[in-house]
Amino acid sequence: MLLRSTLFILVTLVTILQAEDPPKYKTCAETSFCKTLRGQIPTDDLKLILDSFPNNAANQDSAVVKLKSSGGIACTLNIELLKNNLVRVKLIDGQYRYEIPEGIVLERKNQEIIKLNNSNDGTILTVVPYKKEDGQQQVIFNKNDSTLSFYYGEVPKVVVDISKIYLQKKAGNEEFAFNVSFKGAKQLYGLHHHAYNLELTDTVQKKDDKYIGEPFRLRNTDKVNFKADSTESLYGSVPVLYGYSPNSTSGIFVHNAAEQWVDLSKEAADPSAQFMVYSGSMDLFVLLGPHIEDVVQQFTYLTGKAHMPQIWTLGYHQCRWSYDTEDKVLDVMKNMKNNSFPMDAIWLDIDYTKEYEYFTWDTTKFPTAGNMLKTLGENHKKLVAIIDPHIKFDTTYPVYQGAKTNKYFVQNSDGTDYVGVSWPGKSSWIDFLNEDASKYYAAFYSDSNFHQNQTKILAGIWNDMNEPSVENRQDNEMSMPYELIHKYKSVIGLIDVKHGDIHNIYGLLHTMSTHQGLMARDNNGRRPFILTRSHFAGSQRYAAMWTGDNTPDWAHLKSSYSECMLSNLVGHVFCGADIPGFFEIEKKPTEVFVYRAYQAGIWLPFFRGHASKYAENREPYRYNETTQGLIRSAIRMRYRHIPTWYQLFYEHTQTGAPVIRPLFYNFSGEIGYNDHIMLGDNILARPVFEPDVKEVNVHLPGKGLYWYRIDGKSVKAYEGGTDTKINVENGESPVFYRGGSIIVTRDRDVMSTEEGSTLPLTVYVNLDKNFEAAGRLYNDDGYSFDYKQKKFLYAHLMFDEKKMLQVEPIGDQNHEDLTVVVEKVVVNDWAVLKDVSTHHTSDEDGNLFSNVDVVKALRSNGNKVLYKLRR
Ligand SMILES: *[C@@H]1O[C@H](CO)[C@@H](O)[C@H](O)[C@H]1NC(C)=O
Ligand SMILES: *[C@@H]1O[C@H](CO)[C@@H](O)[C@H](O)[C@H]1NC(C)=O
Ligand SMILES: *[C@@H]1O[C@H](CO)[C@@H](O)[C@H](O)[C@H]1NC(C)=O
Ligand SMILES: *[C@@H]1O[C@H](CO)[C@@H](O)[C@H](O)[C@H]1NC(C)=O
Ligand SMILES: *[C@@H]1O[C@H](CO)[C@@H](O)[C@H](O)[C@H]1NC(C)=O
Ligand SMILES: *[C@@H]1O[C@H](CO)[C@@H](O)[C@H](O)[C@H]1NC(C)=O
Ligand SMILES: *[C@@H]1O[C@H](CO)[C@@H](O)[C@H](O)[C@H]1NC(C)=O
Ligand SMILES: *[C@@H]1O[C@H](CO)[C@@H](O)[C@H](O)[C@H]1NC(C)=O
Repeated sequence: MLLRSTLFILVTLVTILQAEDPPKYKTCAETSFCKTLRGQIPTDDLKLILDSFPNNAANQDSAVVKLKSSGGIACTLNIELLKNNLVRVKLIDGQYRYEIPEGIVLERKNQEIIKLNNSNDGTILTVVPYKKEDGQQQVIFNKNDSTLSFYYGEVPKVVVDISKIYLQKKAGNEEFAFNVSFKGAKQLYGLHHHAYNLELTDTVQKKDDKYIGEPFRLRNTDKVNFKADSTESLYGSVPVLYGYSPNSTSGIFVHNAAEQWVDLSKEAADPSAQFMVYSGSMDLFVLLGPHIEDVVQQFTYLTGKAHMPQIWTLGYHQCRWSYDTEDKVLDVMKNMKNNSFPMDAIWLDIDYTKEYEYFTWDTTKFPTAGNMLKTLGENHKKLVAIIDPHIKFDTTYPVYQGAKTNKYFVQNSDGTDYVGVSWPGKSSWIDFLNEDASKYYAAFYSDSNFHQNQTKILAGIWNDMNEPSVENRQDNEMSMPYELIHKYKSVIGLIDVKHGDIHNIYGLLHTMSTHQGLMARDNNGRRPFILTRSHFAGSQRYAAMWTGDNTPDWAHLKSSYSECMLSNLVGHVFCGADIPGFFEIEKKPTEVFVYRAYQAGIWLPFFRGHASKYAENREPYRYNETTQGLIRSAIRMRYRHIPTWYQLFYEHTQTGAPVIRPLFYNFSGEIGYNDHIMLGDNILARPVFEPDVKEVNVHLPGKGLYWYRIDGKSVKAYEGGTDTKINVENGESPVFYRGGSIIVTRDRDVMSTEEGSTLPLTVYVNLDKNFEAAGRLYNDDGYSFDYKQKKFLYAHLMFDEKKMLQVEPIGDQNHEDLTVVVEKVVVNDWAVLKDVSTHHTSDEDGNLFSNVDVVKALRSNGNKVLYKLRR
């Protein structure tokens, strides 16, 4: 009886969610502060001018400029120089302005400032590092035109126009705006996350004195049926903007978690942006580059890098809303296996829980979860499950009861618990800003707190709905009101913080709690795997992200490349998009679309098949033989390259470098090829994003380079600096190796990463015009944090004109029991390949390498191992 009535309620809830009107999302004109600030120059009484410069001084922590307005505003600009050619500028006025504590978005609790000198002649204030060798940054305030300019050496890069800073004088009106321009920049990148082209375009164009378009909006939002190619806000926000040109790049990061709208203008000589911010402090970091890779490094120095993923997470994940019984889970596993599709994990969406009570199992649908996992484990598959931040309003649910008693929920302004609606119906939301509440929630991931002690069987956790998403369709745009109250535990006790001040970091705080819980559950012995929908600058330290509930169409598929390439430039390297797409659509996606989506999806760092429960089934084995064959080859292509993915993730942990890259990251000035993608700097893929095309244009960058096309039956060499038409009529999806690179692969058809982990490797030597090549190899235990103690194998691979392959360890390492076996070395040689379409391999030399244990060789020969190859 009980079960039946429960089911009935669930069904009605879901039906209501489906049948309701589409949610209303505001435009700038409907958002009070955006309407007030857009394109506005402060009126004379609000316009800031110089009040006084600091006295000339050497060896200071900061330089403080005093500003005032004729209408009585008095404020200071606090200028600090940080390591790595960074500058921090904070504006402090008499208003209460929320400041995000360091250690949440900024990785460090204290920023590493460098000492500075400041001097002025009454008109010009100059701020430089006290010691020349500490950095190239220079800040100049020019009283005459009220500009604050940021230089790299002698080159001006970023300018903030002080006369355009918009501050309200009225108390309680904390909104602000400012205008920033990027000297000499050609393109603007950033303001992740939007489903938008990688190159951002002008938003300030007008017709009949009215704006045609909308500014980019940064407000974490559960955006139902989001459009591709739009400035509307999505699930995550990273308020950093880069001004790019081939020889000079810089950036600005707004360290503020409130809603923002950003207008861009590319009309003037220097592209510019107007940031309009709802509340909080004007706390800016200027990233002085000088080049794109430096700016990325600076931003990840500030907000942190992802830690190593467990290696299985780089494989293929299969999800659906929902595999809601043990039988369905095992059925998916069997079908994937029977049809020879490699896969590492199956995912459980909301329906595995007992009536949407997270940290519980529905034991009628999952009566023997432990046994199910055993079967999965025997097949080398993992299980990942969803856990959302809303807590069902039910006094018999322990998670609810404890949070209520301890006042761990987000509150109304009168101190009562906020109650809204989400999957369970009436729900309250954990206040993750409150450290104690966050710890409380984290503890439920432990075995003794998780229902039936069944948490360890979850190899990963999926944090969804954490914008936070609330069923408020007509107002509050699918989230909670900004007036709600969070508590922050400070040295002087709990402090009230308005939701509007921290809206954009709610999801970040949620994943911090989950990360803490999984670390504790696994005794700090395993790298947590968390997937989050909502995210902010810094979330990369805790979780992978995906682009959310997309639609299976060509526009969204293509957009996923821009979205993930951008996320990779702003620290969020572990990015993916639902393949082939989440929502149900009127006409189901064509077979061609589906295999194209897989062919594209394999080059995104996070690779998961997912679909809504209202959509037809979209697992790979649902399609016809031809389609299945193409999907299978695509997934196998992914698995072959897992050693390269893993190496690139390691390098990200060291330098912050993106794992996937737009062409221009390594090939200066190669702008706009957003249907091309690079995995590191060696592999270039150009999947097909168009229906019914016979051929695609492939742009191979780099004059004097060679590129080897490797997706066909035979390898063919092409010259760089050219555009090439490639026939794709038979389902081809072009992939190239860069000449000059050495790429390590595992050329075995394995069914999971785990199965592959002990199998030998193949080394592809791709010769450049001088018949040389170089690459790197990384490996570790695949799951623990021991790599931080240098328990890894990391080596340079070099091949020179004497036909020697050298393997040389990079830095200290301490890899007692790691072995890497190379079974084959393949030399791709343009001199042989450019006219002939045959695979030139070193098969005859295979003996030299088969079963060579590189690690042992490394040790016994000291630092270097040389292998001679015949050409
Ligand atoms: C900063 O000032 C000190 C003391 O005047 C001087 O010795 C030093 O050279 C200055 N630094 C720079 C980079 O000019
Ligand atoms: C500032 O303005 C004054 C008066 O117009 C002028 O003499 C001076 O050269 C200007 N200085 C700069 C650095 O622009
Ligand atoms: C970048 O190149 C442009 C045009 O080639 C040149 O005018 C500019 O000075 C260069 N900028 C830097 C910082 O080298
Ligand atoms: C920023 O200010 C400049 C100079 O006044 C102006 O040309 C530009 O349009 C402004 N940018 C935006 C995005 O409003
Ligand atoms: C296994 O797959 C083959 C096609 O590859 C199909 O004919 C067969 O029915 C499948 N068996 C099961 C048990 O699903
Ligand atoms: C977990 O198991 C322990 C004993 O092994 C038991 O005392 C405890 O109640 C269990 N916890 C839950 C939440 O089921
Ligand atoms: C099978 O799918 C392919 C695309 O992969 C399509 O071209 C073909 O028409 C489909 N065959 C049938 C019989 O539907
Ligand atoms: C790509 O860029 C990185 C970072 O600047 C650099 O280390 C690497 O050598 C570049 N690769 C190529 C092929 O230019």
